[in-house]
Amino acid sequence: MEFVITGSVAYDYLMRFPGRFRDHILPDQLDSLSVSFLAESMRRERGGVAANVAYTMKLLGADPLILATVGNDFGDYRRWLEEQGLRTDQIVEIPDELTATFFVSTDLDQNQIANFYSGAMGYARHYSLESRNLTSAGMVMISPNDPTAMLSYAAECKRLSIPFAFDPSQQLARLDGDDLRQSVPGAALLLCNEYELAMIQNKTGWSREDILGMVDALVLTLGKQGSVIYTDGDEIPIPAAALERVDDPTGAGDAYRGGFFAARMAGLSWPVCGRVGALCSAYALEQTGTTTHRFTVDEFISRYEGVFGAEPSLAGLRKPEAAHSEA
Ligand SMILES: Nc1ncnc2c1ncn2[C@@H]1O[C@H](COP(=O)(O)OP(=O)(O)OP(=O)(O)O)[C@@H](O)[C@H]1O
Ligand SMILES: [Mg+2]
Repeated sequence: MEFVITGSVAYDYLMRFPGRFRDHILPDQLDSLSVSFLAESMRRERGGVAANVAYTMKLLGADPLILATVGNDFGDYRRWLEEQGLRTDQIVEIPDELTATFFVSTDLDQNQIANFYSGAMGYARHYSLESRNLTSAGMVMISPNDPTAMLSYAAECKRLSIPFAFDPSQQLARLDGDDLRQSVPGAALLLCNEYELAMIQNKTGWSREDILGMVDALVLTLGKQGSVIYTDGDEIPIPAAALERVDDPTGAGDAYRGGFFAARMAGLSWPVCGRVGALCSAYALEQTGTTTHRFTVDEFISRYEGVFGAEPSLAGLRKPEAAHSEA
């Protein structure tokens, strides 16, 4: 079955400032604020939630389809996705726009100043599942994107009875209580961290129990405390995987989702899906960047069994196409 990931595909510019922002901001001159920070290093990375999730799924043998809008600067990124074996025919180029771009500078105190330009991402609302002939998708993931597009994909999935996973992450800041009341109920899965769950509850007035009654499963990630999957009245705790080293704190959540859904597509049980997600996060945290971790399925299985113990069902990852056609 087709697993469609809607969401951002973006360039990330990550800069380091070898000082402290606070030393350069004069509180009594805020009316004429003008600051420029000379960065000592800069990396340009391929990011965006949809691409990050798809990348990790692909490492585990799944074949997700990214549905996204990008700009006329996307050529090298598209080639790279294709080199990873990902399909890019539903990544639509908007001619006179730039790809969404995230600029962030981090200072010595880990304080950050960031800008995000949505660019071509703002056109996602015009590319419905129906307009792209994707109405036979078996599952649609709704990840951070143009907020209007996120709401319209949720509405479209409900109207067409397509199961969907709602993953609002950082775009929760842009969704109000009414938006959430329209999009969360009826989701097959809701994925968020603890802070995001609290935001959903604050904006809607729902309790955690209310939310559990509206979705088939809630996947709640808890950073180094691991995660919990709530489904069918069960609460399944998933430990974090021990890290060999921490290189870069970003990308844990997206890698978790990639592992989780690759395992789900291969027909594995909830606890195994959670642990596969946790180990993918560990791989991502051990590398700089969100799409720089690498492993073969066999390497993954052997590390998994070293961390969590023997798991014969992981053999399903070696032949995911068979599981897809049964699903
Ligand atoms: N320090 C850590 N050690 C081991 N595993 C971790 C650590 N931090 C995160 N993880 C793993 O990654 C998963 C997702 O992390 P987290 O809950 O921080 O997601 P997030 O808040 O969405 O992160 P982000 O959006 O920054 O990627 C956790 O459930 C856990 O398995
Ligand atoms: Mg996150």
